[in-house]
Amino acid sequence: MKKVKLPAHIAFIMDGNGRWARRRFRPRGYGHKMGVQNMFKVCAHCFHLGIRIVTVYALSSENLKRPKEEVDELFDLFRTYFSRKKEKMFELNAKINILGDLTALPEDIRQMLIGIMEDTRGITGNLLNICVNYGARSEIVRAVNAAVSYGRFVDENSFKNLLTTGGLPDPDFIVRTGGEVRLSNFLLYQAAYSELYFSHKMWPEFSRRDLERAIEAYSARDRRFGNVREENL
Ligand code: FPP
Repeated sequence: MKKVKLPAHIAFIMDGNGRWARRRFRPRGYGHKMGVQNMFKVCAHCFHLGIRIVTVYALSSENLKRPKEEVDELFDLFRTYFSRKKEKMFELNAKINILGDLTALPEDIRQMLIGIMEDTRGITGNLLNICVNYGARSEIVRAVNAAVSYGRFVDENSFKNLLTTGGLPDPDFIVRTGGEVRLSNFLLYQAAYSELYFSHKMWPEFSRRDLERAIEAYSARDRRFGNVREENL
């Protein structure tokens, strides 16, 4: 890979699992299965390249409204990778943080997610945030309610600390696969100055080289955060 400026924090909207599978005349659940495997591959490559914070959108609050059969298949994948095959998570050598409303999940899954956070708590260096039953609007509303219940006004910094991402730096770069061009209720507050990248590849086929191409595009972006470059004054 060329010498590039890396994002400190990269986030992925892993879209296209279902379509990838259906195009191969396979059930949608097969797409999710291959999607998780690709999640491990892409996250490992991010850490290998030197990106220290990775966030993935594994399950949105809206995804839970899908047909029960698909939701159950997704839950079974969670059971596999957070329990039976949890060594796959440990192989990433990252501290794992789960973001989202865990209360609405089946109790066994909730316990597994809490367990993986505890098991990896001591790992420093790499951080993987996995968003599960996550929705940005409800995250913001919850933060507002927390501020109200504390009876105090907030500023941008103290408000940020009330979000589930807490003191984490905002994502520098958000990559969405699957050809759709939207954020779908993902990190809406945190994405204020994120660079966005949309790939036509479906998530299961988004390769290490695709990731590198995306990072090269990020590296070429001019991030001004609302400011103006001196030569354009
Ligand atoms: C979007 O594809 C993807 C999802 C709804 C789920 C993504 C989840 C994973 C990759 C698994 C995460 C699991 C673990 C264990 C962390 P889609 O179904 O919306 O695809 P489509 O747009 O082609 O229908």
